Amino acid sequence: MSRRFFLAANWKMNAMPLEAVGSSSPYRARVDLDVVVFPTALDIPICINAKLLTGGQSGRPEPSGAHTGDISMELIKAAGCHHVLCGHSERRAQHGETNEDVAEQVIAALEVGLHPIVCVGETEAQRDAGKHHAVVKEQIESIPLHGDLTLAYEPVWAIGTGKTATPAQAQEMHVFIRSLLPEDRRENVRILYGGSVKPENATELLNQEDIDGALVGGASLDAMQFTAILNSALSLLPE
Ligand code: PGA
Repeated sequence: MSRRFFLAANWKMNAMPLEAVGSSSPYRARVDLDVVVFPTALDIPICINAKLLTGGQSGRPEPSGAHTGDISMELIKAAGCHHVLCGHSERRAQHGETNEDVAEQVIAALEVGLHPIVCVGETEAQRDAGKHHAVVKEQIESIPLHGDLTLAYEPVWAIGTGKTATPAQAQEMHVFIRSLLPEDRRENVRILYGGSVKPENATELLNQEDIDGALVGGASLDAMQFTAILNSALSLLPE
């Protein structure tokens, strides 16, 4: 595979694992694949000081202003981050973020030099109604696809539920998403899978041709589980 593997650890609203800053941290930046951590805003400086590749979990497009409780793309960049999550389904569901909001975030992130990881995915009801392609198409087509970004397909019904898309279901959606990309970007943009990625399913998922990495939530809080997922990715690298 010509696209480099990308493992993202999304720690959500949890304290960072203590092992992350230890000398044998599995979360460290590597030469052979990309590992990026997404701590709470409070832990961003700790991760940066520990030389982890670090991203923000969300950012507002406005550079500064009266937005109590929020942080901006500009501040995330100034803290030393290189990445930011945009449109995570928990932000869409719990903070009412729309496709238009996500597009504004992506534009702002690119403008300040952050690499956005844009999350898309359907709910269980949408999949049951056969609308998953249409929902994901609308999400993808509302963001600017020319910039240096990564996509993450995260079926909402698989996030934190222990239910995972089968490798075939995930691969099918990744091929579909890739087909929506501008032709000159199609082979280069990485598409991560997220939703209950665990040591038990990581190898099979990562072995799919169009799955270029994983956005890992729950299992990324446990250094041993994250190490196992990392080892799965490493075992799939060409000699
Ligand atoms: P999960 O979360 O691995 O706990 O399902 C994934 C995510 O929300 O990014």
